[in-house]
Amino acid sequence: MSELDKNRIPQHIAIIMDGNGRWAQHRNESRVFGHMNGVKSVRSTVEAAVKYGVRYLTLYAFSTENWSRPDDEVNALMDLLVQTILNESNDLIKQGVELRTIGDISGLPENCQKSLSDARLNSPEEIKLTLTLALNYSSKWEITEAIKSIVNEGKTSDQITPELIDKHLDSSFMPAPELMIRTSGESRLSNFMLWQLAYAEFHFTSVLWPDFREEHFVEAIIEYQQRDRRFGGISIK
Ligand code: FPP
Repeated sequence: MSELDKNRIPQHIAIIMDGNGRWAQHRNESRVFGHMNGVKSVRSTVEAAVKYGVRYLTLYAFSTENWSRPDDEVNALMDLLVQTILNESNDLIKQGVELRTIGDISGLPENCQKSLSDARLNSPEEIKLTLTLALNYSSKWEITEAIKSIVNEGKTSDQITPELIDKHLDSSFMPAPELMIRTSGESRLSNFMLWQLAYAEFHFTSVLWPDFREEHFVEAIIEYQQRDRRFGGISIK
């Protein structure tokens, strides 16, 4: 296996964390048990991102489609989010991690909104990593909202450019991800950052999210470094 080139670390990695339910099922445990163990992988991945100098890490934590899951599971996921922010906030600040979100936060329960806004007030002095949680997020929702706000500003069609659309997306504060990882063997985007991933490299791994650790994160970056990124042009190798 090739070595990691520390000088060519992607600045933004986006992850679809998948497989919590199956991981739990293999152990005859509840799906919520899988999500609880998924938090350990979040912690380990954030630490690895800081360690290797990734500047932006975006995690798909709850999609607009996830509301269709049983109430118990949805409630447990919301509680887990609040509890995790409470438990991890100080540690994140010590590591130089700021927490941000994309998605329709106003649609989350009040206590989730409050813990997210409290965490947002507490930012580290020197930001090493921007950790963005995609919550109540879907790419089609985000693009629709961007178009609505462009129309509401009274822009004419000749003023509409990709850069203008970028500025109206929830993700306007971050560069586009260079690498997207999806765990659990599924090879789809599931309405995640469709616009922003236009030129990203994709890494699909069969590892279930609760098993995902630093070694898998590094493996994905190494694979990314071996790809020939051409952006529609010709190879410069
Ligand atoms: C997908 O697995 C995972 C989710 C829908 C939730 C992700 C949440 C966490 C990792 C824990 C909480 C996160 C934070 C940031 C506090 P799945 O349930 O669809 O798994 P399956 O496909 O095997 O059923």
